[in-house]
Formats: sequence, structure tokens, C-alpha cells
Amino acid sequence: MPADDDEEEVLPGNVGGAVRVGATVHRPTGPWTPAVHALLEHIASRVPHVPRVHGFDDEGREVLDFLPGQVVDVNIEALSAARLVALVDWTRRFHDAVADFIHPGPWRFFDVPDATSVGHNDLGYYNICFDGDDLAGVFDWDLAGPTTPLFELAFLAWNGVPLWRDDGPDVAAARLHLIADTYGGPTAREILMAVAPRIQLMLVGIPAHAARGDTGMANLMAAGEPGRSRATLDGLVTRMPLIDRALG
Ligand SMILES: Nc1ncnc2c1ncn2[C@@H]1O[C@H](COP(=O)(O)OP(=O)(O)O)[C@@H](O)[C@H]1O
Ligand SMILES: [Mg+2]
Repeated sequence: MPADDDEEEVLPGNVGGAVRVGATVHRPTGPWTPAVHALLEHIASRVPHVPRVHGFDDEGREVLDFLPGQVVDVNIEALSAARLVALVDWTRRFHDAVADFIHPGPWRFFDVPDATSVGHNDLGYYNICFDGDDLAGVFDWDLAGPTTPLFELAFLAWNGVPLWRDDGPDVAAARLHLIADTYGGPTAREILMAVAPRIQLMLVGIPAHAARGDTGMANLMAAGEPGRSRATLDGLVTRMPLIDRALG
């Protein structure tokens, strides 16, 4: 906790991180920031638990609401079924609210062939906070941009089942069904099949964007990406036939 409202508390992240100043966070910006702010303004009155934009500070950083809540580290603690449902419910509301939102960008996210609508694109446990079983905040909107709802759900499943770890095919299948049933769109099998192409996009995109000068992507590479995700995706691919069978 900051000692007073002007004191900065560093909130570490793998890309650019953030600092908390009182009830706000200040974050680095990029060419994608105008598009992200337009998106956040579009959903401000339509979707709950989203930070409001409060302009820029003297250093040119964006200023957003700090959203209090508990960030769950799934390396330490499982994301409960109730929390997974809350996240998927929120995702459905968000997708419904952006069905008519179009912006020319530039966006930071990797090019998705046949994109149909804008997504958050980084719905990992590290960008979400909870209040008990309820969702309390979704932050880190820098990767938002054109994608498909299926790719959004595939990445949510990768992190939220999770599929990058072997918790056994029955657990994976049950949680994939929970995601599909809660969202009410693609089937559990369709979501599973979309995970490899969605992660592949990132394996190619991170080094490509780092080479183009995106320092946040270079920070991800210094933190072991995309090598770590490539290795965990290889593991998932070997387990997929078992998970597929367990889906019934
Ligand atoms: N608006 C916010 N409200 C509350 N916490 C936040 C907010 N933005 C970031 N954080 C916290 O700071 C951490 C790092 O910020 P994030 O924006 O995710 O950085 P990075 O882009 O490096 O991942 C997050 O994991 C979260 O714990
Ligand atoms: Mg983050």
C-alpha cells in the first residue's frame, strides 16, 4: 500500500508493468493506445469491472482506474470453477458489447486472419482480479484488437483450465465443457482445437514484434517467451488425443 496518495507503488508485469498512484495506475503507452482508449471508452458504460481512462500524466503514461481485488496465481492456487464461470460470463458480456465496435487501429495484437471482432486477447489469470467468487477487474488492455471469440476462448482456456499444465484429461475436459456451456457459442472441442493455432500466433508474433522495436515484446523474450509457451504447447499437443476422448 502506498503511504500517501502521491507515492508510487511498482506493480510488476512481464511486458511493461504498471505503477499505482492512489486510486489510479500509470502505464507506458504505445501507438496502440488511442485504439485501446477508444475501446475502453466504448465499453465503459456497457461492461462492468473495466478501468476508466483518465488521460495521461506528466511523463506521458496513461492513467487508468486501479481495480482492487485478488489476483490468483494459478501456479499456486487453482482458479475455482465459480471464478472460471465468472470470467467466462464477463467475456460473453464483453463480446456482446463490442460486436458493433470497429476501430482502424493501429492495434498492438498479432494479425488474426479472418478476424470478426475486437477481443481483449490476454485473458490470463495475471490480468484479472476477483472479490470472492465474483470478478472484480480486468486490466492490461494493451493487446486488445481484432480477433475471433473462438481465439479469445482458446487463450482463456489455455490459462484458465489451464492447458499449459497436465492436470489430467478429465479435469481438462470438465473445465473446457464449463467454459463452453457458460459462454454459449463454440463447443468444448472447438475451443480445444483452437488452442494450438492461437498460441502459434503468439510464438511467431512475439519475436516479430520485438524485432520491429516493441520493447514490451522484447521484455517477454527476456522472461523466457516464446520458448516457454512453445514447450508447454508441445506438451499439450501430445495430451490432446486423451483430452479429446475425455470430452465425450
Ligand atoms: N488497472 C489496474 N488495477 C489493478 N491492478 C492493476 C491494474 N493494472 C495493472 N495492475 C496490476 O499490475 C500488474 C502488472 O500490470 P500489467 O498492466 O498487467 O502489466 P504488463 O503489461 O507488464 O503485464 C497486473 O498483473 C496487476 O496485478
Ligand atoms: Mg499483464
